[in-house]
Amino acid sequence: MCGIVGYVGSEDAVPIIVEGLKKLEYRGYDSSGLAIYGKNNFNVIKQKGRLAALEAKLEGRCISGTTGIGHTRWATHGEPSDINSHPHLGSKNKIAVVHNGIIENYKQLKDRLEKKGIRFVSETDSEVIAQIAEHYYNGDLLDTVIRVSNALEGSYALGIMCLDEPDTLLAVKKDNPLIIGVSDHGNFIASDVPAILKHTNKVYYLNDKEIAILQKGCVDFFNFEKEPIKKTPEIITWSPESAEKDGYPHFMLKEIMEQPKVLKDTIHSAIHSGENKNIIKNVNISCFNKIVITACGSAYNAGVVAKYVFEKLCRLSVEVELASEFRYKDAIVDKQTLVILISQSGETADTIAAMREAKSKNAVTLSIVNVLGSTIAKETDFCIYTAAGPEIAVATTKAFSAQLVLLYLLAINFAHKLNKISDEQKDELIEEIQTLPEKVSALLDDVKNIQHYAADCIGYKSIFFIGRNIDYAIALEGSLKLKEISYIHSEAYAGGELKHGPISLVEENTLVVAISNCKHLHNKIMSNVEQVISRGAKVLLIGNCPQGEMNDKISFMPLPEGSELFSPSLSAIVLQLFSYYVAANKGLDIDKPRNLAKSVTVE
Ligand code: AGP
Repeated sequence: MCGIVGYVGSEDAVPIIVEGLKKLEYRGYDSSGLAIYGKNNFNVIKQKGRLAALEAKLEGRCISGTTGIGHTRWATHGEPSDINSHPHLGSKNKIAVVHNGIIENYKQLKDRLEKKGIRFVSETDSEVIAQIAEHYYNGDLLDTVIRVSNALEGSYALGIMCLDEPDTLLAVKKDNPLIIGVSDHGNFIASDVPAILKHTNKVYYLNDKEIAILQKGCVDFFNFEKEPIKKTPEIITWSPESAEKDGYPHFMLKEIMEQPKVLKDTIHSAIHSGENKNIIKNVNISCFNKIVITACGSAYNAGVVAKYVFEKLCRLSVEVELASEFRYKDAIVDKQTLVILISQSGETADTIAAMREAKSKNAVTLSIVNVLGSTIAKETDFCIYTAAGPEIAVATTKAFSAQLVLLYLLAINFAHKLNKISDEQKDELIEEIQTLPEKVSALLDDVKNIQHYAADCIGYKSIFFIGRNIDYAIALEGSLKLKEISYIHSEAYAGGELKHGPISLVEENTLVVAISNCKHLHNKIMSNVEQVISRGAKVLLIGNCPQGEMNDKISFMPLPEGSELFSPSLSAIVLQLFSYYVAANKGLDIDKPRNLAKSVTVE
């Protein structure tokens, strides 16, 4: 949510910033803006709407300069408008600020400043940062930023420029991501790697309460005591092309198609070499009497799938909690609990809060994260990384699939350590997991059926997803995927629950997507199918169970054979394609669905 890009160097800052902001569009935004350092002033351009509108406004204005900050805003305080867009300036136009996060005590600070005669122009919480910075400014920007940071309550990643300090950018963060990139022609601040990947793969991750001072040839780091700190850069292995659409109409389709490789790389990282393998091998599961998995959205759904796999293989009790609930429920966890946190971004505010809550109760934390150096990756006791590469589309696909395989591999290793499965069983299960990339590839080689089927589904008002056991878990993800990008109302239910209420919603013009990979439950789900058909519904049946009697009410998408435990990885592919093609046929903005942000960094 919100994106920050800043540059100080020898090249023209405007195109670098605009291009960087475009790479952050996936984070979700409703307006944008930039400020370029000029000799006597800041050139500030802000515009409600898409970045194309900002570019149109920039055209013909001849703004040039080699130091600047830019921002994409996802409105929290104050409607999307030109004036509420960032950067914000203090009333003396001396300090310019871009902000990602929420300032919880902005009202108190604003009241104090207004009493001193300072006039605010926007409705945002962020303007208070520029105003208070200007108010505190004593000729030393580092001093000022420390003082400002100490006055702020809430979360922030900030990019700051001061008119009195030419060719200098300041960056500071607390509870929101910010990275510093260094290159030969200049240095960068950004909310995420894709924004600067074209220029550099050498990146410093700012920790909370660290400040970076960037100039053309150098970056210095300080803590809030104004002491210099030494940081080591990370080298990002993602290629610049991985953040491009590469000829696909949408990032989502590109990312769906990348899944065979992502699965292969992720499985390889966990069973052949490296840190993932070591961690999976070394976590001593016998120390724990329960596992709690907590996450948000699709990552939560991956956790629901994992519950079935862990319980089946390890015979250990597993609870799955939405992170937004876990953080406030006074959860019963202690040092004998392994808390698994799942997050693509590693920056989701609720998941971070859940992690800190679990740690405060002495639980051991293990995270599954995609973004290197992110907060969750850094703060958990153990972190295993999905090898999904940058995921740009708001709707997660490849990161979800990579999370699933890491969870399966964890479950298999835990089960083996707990003596619940033999050496041979372990080998067999791992062997089957290694067949997943090929099976996924086969599904992706033949998308015509699901594409045609989806094209006929754009008129449905409601689509229900049903399954039993692990098929129910993946039905949750199918339903989430569809609603977030197609805006069609959808719900997922356990098949057995239909008659306890939801079936009253089933009528003519309802589509029910039924998933069936659990052999022992196939007849049960087919009874549910009959029940909804007799009430006028049409059914899309997805699975590897025997097809049975098809008719004009049931369409069947077969999945490759395999054990039910890993079938969610295959169901997921068809469900992702279904959602994608429904949304594509509706002509929607698939990569940036309305109201959504890729990384939900505020509560
Ligand atoms: C999935 O398609 C969603 N966009 C969303 O539910 C997402 O999974 C959730 O916000 C969690 O994000 P994270 O994995 O980055 O923590």
